Amino acid sequence: MKFDIDIPPVIRFGRKCRFALPSLLPEGPLLFICGKHAVPRIEKEMLPLLSGREVYIRCGFKGEPHLDEVEELLAFARSKQIKAVAGWGGGSAMDGAKAVAALLPETAPVADFFYNRAAAQDRRIYLILLPTTAGTGAEITANAVLTDAGSGIKQSLRTAGMAADAALVDPELVQECPSSVMAASGFDALTQAMESFISLKANALTRSLSRSAVRDIFLNLSRACAHDEKAVDAVTLGCLNAAVAFSRSGLGAVHGVGHPVGSLLSVPHGIACAVLLTEVLRFNAPVCGEALDELAVTAGLADAEELIANTELLRKELQIPADFKPYGLNKTHYPFIIQNCRSGSMKCNPRNMSDAQVAELLEKLT
Ligand SMILES: [Fe+2]
Repeated sequence: MKFDIDIPPVIRFGRKCRFALPSLLPEGPLLFICGKHAVPRIEKEMLPLLSGREVYIRCGFKGEPHLDEVEELLAFARSKQIKAVAGWGGGSAMDGAKAVAALLPETAPVADFFYNRAAAQDRRIYLILLPTTAGTGAEITANAVLTDAGSGIKQSLRTAGMAADAALVDPELVQECPSSVMAASGFDALTQAMESFISLKANALTRSLSRSAVRDIFLNLSRACAHDEKAVDAVTLGCLNAAVAFSRSGLGAVHGVGHPVGSLLSVPHGIACAVLLTEVLRFNAPVCGEALDELAVTAGLADAEELIANTELLRKELQIPADFKPYGLNKTHYPFIIQNCRSGSMKCNPRNMSDAQVAELLEKLT
């Protein structure tokens, strides 16, 4: 057995671990890139601990950061000679922070890196990430999902050295997340846990993390949406474990197809995952039934069929739609989705999905 894994060198988990932030930062101006709901807490809790230091706060991504938003942040960060970036928020804020930290020393436009016309050097500034949702796992992964508003293309920017220097995973920050966001982001984390378990690139370490994540998220997500503290802790931990797993194992067809659907129809990522998950599990079951049976047992269920049925029940209970009808999916969208779903995630799916099979999957959800 052989495996290797690359994760941030400092990971702290637990209520109030966010207060380690000041002690971890290097000298020099600091830029918070955050969700707008995070601003009052940063101002109240962090600014007094950072007195004497130049601190700037920028917020306000509505979805995945757009290339021009990242460009604007980079210009600001360069003008202030920023030495450390703290991403504090959901996946979008953290991905924006990662892109800024990775590209700050560069001169070429963001689009050149996004479309692989240029490669960034591994010489970015200090990056610390604090998630406020239990979902994307962006605090662990070495990529940032960005959108080109012009072309509608949403994909991962991957550059050298994008992994954070530190991730502070504090369930108290997740606790205040609105129920609907908890439900959608929790389904993203559940999808990541399941897809990483059955991924073609999974290994012994990632599988044990994925298994534990499926159990923690599946058994606690409903109560976490009602803001039960222990359940929030469990879902936050599950999300972290799933992220460490999929950062190495990759994901699958839910994420492959979910990204172009999301960018084309503005479907929030967690909702796209929740809508696609059970249909993709059914598609995959013929080649990974045993693995799904194993996950079912982990979650206290009998077999793969019961796992899929209960995942569907959980989606209904959390009031997430069963298909993409509310987002207006129709046949004219299929060519774009088929053309843009062949990502790294798709390559990890345990069963090859042809273009015709992607169309069949979309038919069921239209
Ligand atoms: Fe995801």
